[in-house]
Amino acid sequence: MFPLILTRFKDFKEDGMALRQIRYLGDDILKKGCKPIKEVTDRIRTLADDMIETMYEFQGVGLAAPQVGILKRMVVIDVGEGPIVMINPTILETSGEQTGEEGCLSYPGKAGIVTRPNYVKAKYYDLDMNEVIVEGEELLARCICHELDHLDGHMYVELAGDTIHDVTYDEMEEE
Ligand code: NI
Repeated sequence: MFPLILTRFKDFKEDGMALRQIRYLGDDILKKGCKPIKEVTDRIRTLADDMIETMYEFQGVGLAAPQVGILKRMVVIDVGEGPIVMINPTILETSGEQTGEEGCLSYPGKAGIVTRPNYVKAKYYDLDMNEVIVEGEELLARCICHELDHLDGHMYVELAGDTIHDVTYDEMEEE
């Protein structure tokens, strides 16, 4: 996901990280369900690193594995508090409502208006396979919902209806 208002650009590069090719709306892989991760292998760690780098490169706040062509249940998120890698995430609880602009790195140059819960409590596993509970409001809640939808083959455009519109790069950078 990308926000229309970016509060921070990170300069996050480490040796050995690589950009992955993003899949775009219309690619069948984005409609498929993803499989749970049973074990964190070196390949999974590399994928997580690459997804984080790819998310930052394209100024996203979240990226799901199927968006780089990998049908595994893993997402990366950074809403300005540092990167989180979520393995096998599930939403436990939601409440409230927020309606606002949402975009996706798999549909560049577009945004739409989507209603999401304002609060989300989710469970996931970190790269050491420890169970973690996260609670998020506003952008983090929106981002968790958006990214988890990707793992089940769904994109925000299904929720945005006819509110999809063009956005310029300038608008995306605006404070
Ligand atoms: Ni997305």
